[in-house]
Amino acid sequence: MYIETVNVEIPVIKPTSYPIIIGNNILKDIGNAIKQNTKAKKLLIVSNKIIYPIFKDEISSSLKQAGFEFEALILEDGEKYKNIDSLQGIWNKALEYKLERKDAIVALGGGVVGDITGFAAASYLRGIDFIQVPTTLLAQVDSSVGGKVAINNDFGKNLVGAFYQPKLVYADIKTLKFLPEKELKVGLAEVLKYGFIEKTCRLKDSQNNFIEFLQNNKDKIYSLNEGIMINLVKHCCKLKAAVVNQDEKEAGLRAILNFGHTIGHAIEKCSNYQGINHGEAVAIGMKSVFSIAFKKGLINENYYNESIKLINEYKLDYKIPESISTKSLLEAMSFDKKVQSGKVIFVLSTNKAEVSIFNDVSDEQIAKAIKLSK
Ligand SMILES: NC(=O)c1ccc[n+]([C@@H]2O[C@H](COP(=O)([O-])OP(=O)(O)OC[C@H]3O[C@@H](n4cnc5c(N)ncnc54)[C@H](O)[C@@H]3O)[C@@H](O)[C@H]2O)c1
Repeated sequence: MYIETVNVEIPVIKPTSYPIIIGNNILKDIGNAIKQNTKAKKLLIVSNKIIYPIFKDEISSSLKQAGFEFEALILEDGEKYKNIDSLQGIWNKALEYKLERKDAIVALGGGVVGDITGFAAASYLRGIDFIQVPTTLLAQVDSSVGGKVAINNDFGKNLVGAFYQPKLVYADIKTLKFLPEKELKVGLAEVLKYGFIEKTCRLKDSQNNFIEFLQNNKDKIYSLNEGIMINLVKHCCKLKAAVVNQDEKEAGLRAILNFGHTIGHAIEKCSNYQGINHGEAVAIGMKSVFSIAFKKGLINENYYNESIKLINEYKLDYKIPESISTKSLLEAMSFDKKVQSGKVIFVLSTNKAEVSIFNDVSDEQIAKAIKLSK
């Protein structure tokens, strides 16, 4: 056998940074923001049938004023369209429209549109500028930041994707006024999560009092008070960015963003992604991990009660559907991406706003915690 090895040196790609612009009623200025953050002449806007009609006029006139040429591709609405067919549709549309590498693709929508469009941008011509215009609370506080882009396939959710950071995130909280309350609550479950993991995010100069902020501003948050919502979205983005900055590819710390998600994802999977949505499943998952942490002696009764109360006050008190057995949930967890060397990974509270990663939670402990939400 004859082998030679050539070591190839590639200059390290520069760390990337991008602005997240958050405001109220700012869609009318989106053209200028894109102009300042890309060299694109042509834009492909990807949105869906529900969202595009609401914001089309405002966005179109702003892009025209800023001198952009653009076309839109309108997807069907729903998680089931976050698939290879929609991805292919975006690639084909971009090719027909002759989008070049210096141009950009804009995702206007919630996490579904953002994830699939981001993956299209990451792969089209091996990478084209990508702009996120998140229109759900979940997308504004979570999915539009951090660069995870993906599609689903027959084997599960988000199994094919990339890490691809946008050039700009442009979040207008006005868009949330059109969002059904059910969808707002999906985002609120993630917002509470940030409160519960805040200190462990190690955000520089943070007061680490997000739980108190959430306790004190529930009504203003539900009524989408301008100042409160801008602060809320900003703080969540900063927390997520701080975590991603320390661990972009989920080698360690980034796993804390899955607080409540181990059980949550299992519930979603066992319900075939119907009947119970992501936020509801995560809310149940968070309650369950608080119970596990309390029973393991990691947190005191005071913090346990305070946390459950906060989840309930945010109208996130849900039950696991009767049809889902504990056995099927345990099985689903064992297939989750959060399994390492055969052990299910849990993010558990260890103190107020602090969490740690554990791989020693027994099936019996999980079953007991799940029972509380049955
Ligand atoms: N990339 C990440 O880091 C990350 C993180 C969390 C979740 N996700 C992904 O995000 C997706 C869920 O995102 P989502 O909760 O935003 O769901 P979604 O994108 O399906 O949006 C929810 C619903 O609200 C509608 N909608 C969106 N904006 C609206 C508005 N302003 N007014 C009225 N209706 C509006 C949508 O058409 C849809 O029917 C999942 O696919 C999940 O895997 C990704």
